Amino acid sequence: MSSDPLPKKELGAVKGTHDILPGEVEIWRKVEAEASGLFERYGYRELRAPIIEHTELFEKGTGETSDIVTKEMYTFVDKGGRSITLRPEYTPSVVRAIVEHRLDLLGTPMRYYYIGPMFRYDKPQKGRYRQFHQIDVEVFAEKDPAIDAEIIEMADTLLRSLGVTETETLINSVGCKACRPEFSKELRTHAEKVREGLCEDCRRKIETNPLRIFDRKVEACRGLAKDFPQITGFLCEECRDHFAKVRSFLDLTGVSYRVEPNLVRGLDYYTKTTFEVINLSGGQQNAVLGGGRYDNMMKDFGGPDICAIGFACGVERLIAMLSLQPDPRKFVYVVHAGDAAKAKAVELARMFRCGGVETLLEFAGRGFKSQFGRANKLGAAWVLIIGEDEVAKGEFLLKDMAAGTQIAGTPESLLASIVEGNKS
Ligand code: HAM
Repeated sequence: MSSDPLPKKELGAVKGTHDILPGEVEIWRKVEAEASGLFERYGYRELRAPIIEHTELFEKGTGETSDIVTKEMYTFVDKGGRSITLRPEYTPSVVRAIVEHRLDLLGTPMRYYYIGPMFRYDKPQKGRYRQFHQIDVEVFAEKDPAIDAEIIEMADTLLRSLGVTETETLINSVGCKACRPEFSKELRTHAEKVREGLCEDCRRKIETNPLRIFDRKVEACRGLAKDFPQITGFLCEECRDHFAKVRSFLDLTGVSYRVEPNLVRGLDYYTKTTFEVINLSGGQQNAVLGGGRYDNMMKDFGGPDICAIGFACGVERLIAMLSLQPDPRKFVYVVHAGDAAKAKAVELARMFRCGGVETLLEFAGRGFKSQFGRANKLGAAWVLIIGEDEVAKGEFLLKDMAAGTQIAGTPESLLASIVEGNKS
């Protein structure tokens, strides 16, 4: 290892990534606990897949014409010569895990969720990162439109339970293998007519996936796409019926939504229902959450023919909308002076911690008064005082910092009174 210090650039986090620091982590944990608690009440179970997968999984799953696969994947060749990718999304991993472990044969509900980091090499900006986190939910083997409505309602409930109100839910149907080709053909004809006005990316998409033109962030392309035909008029009977039923089930739940015929989403695999929740004051990166039905992925992977629907919520974007505060911590600060007291402090700190009480013990060699000052500054709920006299007597003092009162007792009795106080 070189003894040269790190250059300034390498001392910062990699571009597009960020640390989640103490103080912020508590908010993350609240969001994670709210989400997992809610999903479990809807019958979902956590499924944890690896961060790395074979590159082919995303090429096939996420789709070869998606921006994610064409431009944004973190792909490398490992020492065994395999092409490996840091997952840009979670959906293909869940499908792979089901097929690999034949979870479909267990007879249990196929409802899974996961919260973790994803990686996309995109241009970082506010709300868009290269390592970001998703709360991901997937349900399999339910083709009834009622489940589409239920999952949208669950997403809505998650946001409401966290106090988010400034959002709008958009829904659409992107059709299926039967009706989409006709629509794509029609779209191609229209896009060809305005080819000159489209950006280079969209011109390429005329051939590869013309639906994607609706998804463009380039203002000029979006403007031209406004006059393109809409998928609604091309849906086959089955898709039309499915979409109508999704809407009527959603109406039953009372979740408000708007049908947005141009909502196509940025991934190749969707069939029938797609949906997105947008932050109404979110600027450019305003999608908080997005998802839809993907009935063909498992079969396309070579697995059983099992339909699916899911969504993922961007945790950074969600947290940016929240006004949650971390809960104040209640902990004991142990002040000690002298070698015998220090040894006792070590012993009692262990005892209190084993008893379930957060206990802070520092060894900076400060004087008694300065340790009190520090306990105060850190916001300790109690101070446990250990001096030579206390050690000799086997009785210690516990100061309640908020009340300003002090009690004396054995370690066991003091611990019991803290535990009691914590309950109230
Ligand atoms: P997605 O729309 O690509 O869908 O991503 C879902 C959410 O992840 C977005 O709405 C956004 O909040 C967040 N997100 C995406 N990219 C970034 C980024 N670069 N920085 C910060 N946040 C970001 C999916 O990933 C699908 N797998 C969703 C799904 C699950 N569909 C069916 N099942």
